[in-house]
Amino acid sequence: MDTPARGNTRFDIASLPLPVIQAPMAGGPSTPELAAAVSSRGGLGFLAAGYKTAAAVKAEIEATRKLTGAPVGVNVFVPQPSMVSSRALEEYALSLAPDAQRFGVALGDPRHDDDDWDNKIDVLLEKAPEAVSFTFDVPDPAVVAALQQRGVCVIGTVTSRPEAVRALEAGVDVLCVQGPEAGGHRGSFDAARRPEGESLHGLLEELADLGVPLIAAGGIVTGADTREALSRGAAAVQAGTAFLRADEAGTKEAHRLALAPGRFTTTGVTRAFSGRNARGLLNEFMRRHDGGAPEGYPEVHHLTTPLRAAAAAAGDADWLNLWAGTGFQRTTAGPASAILASLTP
Ligand SMILES: Cc1cc2nc3c(=O)[nH]c(=O)nc-3n(C[C@H](O)[C@H](O)[C@H](O)COP(=O)(O)O)c2cc1C
Repeated sequence: MDTPARGNTRFDIASLPLPVIQAPMAGGPSTPELAAAVSSRGGLGFLAAGYKTAAAVKAEIEATRKLTGAPVGVNVFVPQPSMVSSRALEEYALSLAPDAQRFGVALGDPRHDDDDWDNKIDVLLEKAPEAVSFTFDVPDPAVVAALQQRGVCVIGTVTSRPEAVRALEAGVDVLCVQGPEAGGHRGSFDAARRPEGESLHGLLEELADLGVPLIAAGGIVTGADTREALSRGAAAVQAGTAFLRADEAGTKEAHRLALAPGRFTTTGVTRAFSGRNARGLLNEFMRRHDGGAPEGYPEVHHLTTPLRAAAAAAGDADWLNLWAGTGFQRTTAGPASAILASLTP
């Protein structure tokens, strides 16, 4: 038996001892050690399935189960239709050529893929983590229902009211409301959508009448931020950037150093790294390439992968995606337990 026997009783986020969720962070930061450290202390730790094979996700769930008997969540990217022309990709590749040359690497193959979706869903049905969240879209109602049958609490990430309504129509139990302050990729169903004048607090107010628990995400790095979100109707908060400097996180060294005080002063939103809007520390790559990057996830992500890997290996923070939310300057380094305590209301 892989999971505690729960019958069909769905995990309820209101049952968490602490209303703090460690955000799933694909690309390295989310590790079994980080998720277990947060979950075992009463928060909810999340694994990030994005960019990994289904087999790797399965291994991470098993590793986390060995570290803690507490609830754990897994986050999955919902596949996107291909929307970028090969011509636009070729033009963007040409503009990246000097950077690739500088690092002595060839650019990646800008392929379209579904990130091993079907196999990941099979793993999640088999392993039944207590919570599964989706981003970039909502899956078919049949997938949502099948997970719920296994006792999984299904969370849909949304950035607007129309997305929230669609997620609820698909049957999700909980909404993760991602404000524009958030670090990393925007979960918007329409990848091109740029938030105009929105805020996490505004979105929480706008979605308060929907009658489902709301998780507040974006710019939350202190207990005061958590209290504020809870006072605006959130059932829990989800913090990503606050955990990037945790000892247990798999954050790349160059990214960790870039988050330390004094190195960067602001964040920006760009599709230059992946073809999809994401918030990160405003570095040279973003300044140079944001204007020329086509909208095309995951093709652009694959195109820039070798460049980002070489920059990370060289410790060059100016050519690497440094995802971070607007609260990055108030983060601290240290054990996840201390960061969790500092986020607790
Ligand atoms: C490095 C990084 C990676 C992220 N990866 C994911 C991911 O794989 N899936 C997801 O749903 N959200 C991802 N996010 C967004 C978080 O779920 C969350 O919305 C965000 O971190 C909240 O804002 P904050 O960073 O200001 O706390 C990521 C965020 C960061 C900073």
